[in-house]
Amino acid sequence: MLSWDEFDKEDTEVAAKSSSPAQAAAAATLDKLDSAGGAAALEARAATASDSDAVKRAKAALNDLDIAEGLAELEGSAARVAVDEKRMINCRADLNQLVPFKYDWAWQKYLDGCANHWMPQEVNMTADIALWKDQDGLTDDERRIVMRNLGFFSTADSLVANNLALAVYRLITNPECRQYILRQAFEEAIHTHAYQYCIESLGMDEGEIFNMYHEIPSVAKKAAWGLKYTRAISDPEFNTGTPETDKELLRNLIAYYCVLEGIFFYCGFTQILSMGRRNKMTGVAEQFQYILRDESMHLNFGIDVINQIKIENPHLWDAAMKEEATQMILQGTQLEIEYARDTMPRGVLGMNAAMMEDYLKFIANRRLTQIGLKEEYPGTNNPFPWMSEIMDLKKEKNFFETRVIEYQTGGALSWD
Ligand SMILES: [Fe+2]
Ligand SMILES: [Fe+2]
Repeated sequence: MLSWDEFDKEDTEVAAKSSSPAQAAAAATLDKLDSAGGAAALEARAATASDSDAVKRAKAALNDLDIAEGLAELEGSAARVAVDEKRMINCRADLNQLVPFKYDWAWQKYLDGCANHWMPQEVNMTADIALWKDQDGLTDDERRIVMRNLGFFSTADSLVANNLALAVYRLITNPECRQYILRQAFEEAIHTHAYQYCIESLGMDEGEIFNMYHEIPSVAKKAAWGLKYTRAISDPEFNTGTPETDKELLRNLIAYYCVLEGIFFYCGFTQILSMGRRNKMTGVAEQFQYILRDESMHLNFGIDVINQIKIENPHLWDAAMKEEATQMILQGTQLEIEYARDTMPRGVLGMNAAMMEDYLKFIANRRLTQIGLKEEYPGTNNPFPWMSEIMDLKKEKNFFETRVIEYQTGGALSWD
């Protein structure tokens, strides 16, 4: 009867027979990792009569592969990771080891994001197309709102995605947060897809819409404000590790999560969702409803990251940084108020620029307190309480005309 020991012995014998100096060196490296596995690899790599020249070259190249050198390229140390070593920024532990989790909330958000998966083509756009093409379907003010918002959002989500992939991802040194950032980046791609899908479905001038962030001042100013904060950290030479550079990253996170995703999206979302509540452009409104649900999760993730960085690096959150963060949120609020006035020169859809201003001040107070700053618009009330209800889709199964009955996992949609 054979035993596993005998199998191991045979493997070793085969490897010894085919040994050349290069193979011996490779075997020595592999032995350090796993002697039985190393011998098996060498046996599999031994040249045979049927090998073509290309196959022989591939095998020979692997004999020169230095595993130790390859692993040294990885970020962080090569040891098993302990939870205590994990840090949001400037972490030295191996970033390829997802577990053990330190930030369970980040992993939970990743799971929640996946459970809320949706695709733009699943939304019925038929009624929107008919309404948009009907000369009397919408007022000029309503058309202006649809055009401006598709113009702003079609590029804004690309700015967010680029900031994540090209700047933030490598600087957040925690694997469970990176896992969520990858999910978020894909969701941003879905959002850009959704806007493109609306623009195409409605037969709009794509050049006009996608270039609006260059041409319409209220749209251009918001985009330019966000881009200012990407500039420093998207430099490939940029790295965190000093109080100045750590603060630079913090500024970027506040600009994108608290202001772009936390304030700049809210006037447009409210306008389009208000349209949906009045049974107009229900497909576009439904796309925005899913996007808003994703965005509220992005925002909450960003707030948690910012607050965790503050806990781990209290020296960064000094009086000057607090003042700067407050100013950023107030500037963002002001730009969004200007956008509200530009998109709503008159009252429309049961709202007007003054009500939106109140709503934006209410939102700004929330953003300030969420990162531990004091409210700057005390006593402001929320004129649109229905907005917070929309953010939780499960509560609002029957909101729009073309409605989803239940939406939990990818693609499993059921329409009335
Ligand atoms: Fe987005
Ligand atoms: Fe987002």
